[in-house]
Amino acid sequence: MFDAPSKPAPVRIEAETPADAAAVEALVLAAFGPGRFAKTAERLRERAGVAAAFVARDEGQVIGSVRLWRITVGETAALFLGPIAVASDSRKAGLGADLVQACVDHAAAARMGILLVGDMGYFERFGFSVASDVRLSGPADPARVLWRGEGEPAGLVQAVR
Ligand SMILES: CC(C)(COP(=O)(O)OP(=O)(O)OC[C@H]1O[C@@H](n2cnc3c(N)ncnc32)[C@H](O)[C@@H]1OP(=O)(O)O)[C@@H](O)C(=O)NCCC(=O)NCCS
Repeated sequence: MFDAPSKPAPVRIEAETPADAAAVEALVLAAFGPGRFAKTAERLRERAGVAAAFVARDEGQVIGSVRLWRITVGETAALFLGPIAVASDSRKAGLGADLVQACVDHAAAARMGILLVGDMGYFERFGFSVASDVRLSGPADPARVLWRGEGEPAGLVQAVR
């Protein structure tokens, strides 16, 4: 008797664990390069607490990552998404979408909106739109400041520990 051909195990989206930190850092560095450390978004993340973080795992290996950070927009508690990265040889297979969906599900359960600085060309498909009344405490292209959630957020974005 022959064994049935084994299917490759599906990539799983799971909560990031402390043991994933180095792999996530390497993935993000490979995706964005060292220039990201100058970005306004990174300054904000340095001062914010992590609300949730997810990895895409393939046979134990981290091949995708996204984090959500605690912020306020004006007076409203919200979540700041980023960075999101998928390993270059695993892109265009829907992993980025799965990671965004994990964030959307978390935000829905927390009854909060999600803010991010990113490409409308990628994030529009998930229901994000330009948040023109939101201000970041550093330079950011207004066309890349995006929101998904109830209402129209307005005001200064501040980190929450
Ligand atoms: C952005 C990223 C996370 C998407 O991961 P992914 O697993 O490839 O995402 P999906 O499979 O869900 O979607 C892929 C689709 O998004 C498109 N896409 C990817 N990045 C895009 C961008 N910045 N703008 C517009 N479209 C984009 C791809 O061309 C692809 O299109 P197709 O389905 O027509 O082929 C991944 O490309 C990545 O790590 N990029 C480098 C880091 C980065 O730029 N992150 C922030 C993006 S603002």
